[in-house]
Amino acid sequence: MSTRRLVLTRGAAIVGAASTGLLLPQIARAQSNRIRVGLMLPYTGTYAQLGVAIENGIRMAIDEKGGKLGGREIDWFKVDDESEPAKGVENANKLVQRDKVQVIMGTVHSGVQMGIQKVARESGVLSIIPNAGVAAATGSLCAPNVFRTSFTNSQPTLALGKPMFDRRVRKAVWITHKYAAGEEAGAGFKESFTKAGGTVIKELGLPFPQVEFQALLTEIANLKPDAVACFFAGGAAAKFMKDYAAAGLKGKIPLYGSGFLTEGVLDAAGPAAEGVVTTLHYSDSLDTPRNKQFRLAYAKTFRLQPDVYAVQGYDAGQLLVIGANAVRGDLNSKQALYKAMESVTIDSPRGKWTMSKSHNPIQDMYLRIVENKENKVIGIAAKALADSGAGCRMNA
Ligand code: PHB
Repeated sequence: MSTRRLVLTRGAAIVGAASTGLLLPQIARAQSNRIRVGLMLPYTGTYAQLGVAIENGIRMAIDEKGGKLGGREIDWFKVDDESEPAKGVENANKLVQRDKVQVIMGTVHSGVQMGIQKVARESGVLSIIPNAGVAAATGSLCAPNVFRTSFTNSQPTLALGKPMFDRRVRKAVWITHKYAAGEEAGAGFKESFTKAGGTVIKELGLPFPQVEFQALLTEIANLKPDAVACFFAGGAAAKFMKDYAAAGLKGKIPLYGSGFLTEGVLDAAGPAAEGVVTTLHYSDSLDTPRNKQFRLAYAKTFRLQPDVYAVQGYDAGQLLVIGANAVRGDLNSKQALYKAMESVTIDSPRGKWTMSKSHNPIQDMYLRIVENKENKVIGIAAKALADSGAGCRMNA
């Protein structure tokens, strides 16, 4: 919010000077030469930490390239979307209509993303999704101006079923927050686990953002599955792992998950997270010069350890820099802009990845285990996994 006030204050000062008349043409040019970037992220609630990591990543990628886009200075605008789907359209419109941003970078929550998607499709404003995995954004509602640098919700869990079966899990319970992200992740898990030969004996859920897990954990104890697989993220993920351990299930019924479960929460979850096995397109321990350099630079800049959200934000920043540079900052050169963004190879800390036809990353999925408060890679769960982009007709 302070960023917005700063921009407005400066704008008002410029208008005051311009009222002398003489300065006006240069000022008009100077203003139009700047790029207006909108950040729509959660800064409060269960996903607040995710929003901060994403913003850090975006800023770091742009700062590494000189802090400009296609040679132009940036004006930043921020909206806290609170992970509140009911306010999704209104919040996206604050950025597009009120602040006149040329690109929206956001968001985390799939339900909120649907609001951004509607506004992006109607206004044509460039949209870069640094997390939310809702399939429709790069599926049935795909659009030439919408790009994602993260994943679709089913990508990590499509890679989870086989490793679980290989680890002798035959009967599993699925548990999640009940909204698009969890439902789509559950569908990916069911498909891959069933295909491997396993059975999902029960699907459990609770409304987002509730975290009263007790009754569901009692049900799991009664069902006695070989393992539990889940989708939870942020504050809810830390609490779920702690409650799982406190209910006496840890060590008895192994816990698996879409890898968000163990991202950014390993300090908060403590011993409850040790030994949890997940699949995701990133791991702290990736032993590559690119990942090591990124982790060091991020830690130095923000005094925080990066996680998958920081990486996705960083790649969103990289994508924007590449696109803007290709059109020398003129984001209205839409054809050239989209072409440059479609044909990228992003040199990510997660490993290099490219864009699918529907504008979603084609990427490797890693099998990870939490050891000593770190997500350690123990295998590749899927190579160059592409989402099908089902229903996407780009120019429709
Ligand atoms: C989503 O709502 O799409 C979502 C939220 C948090 C995650 C992953 C997906 O970690």
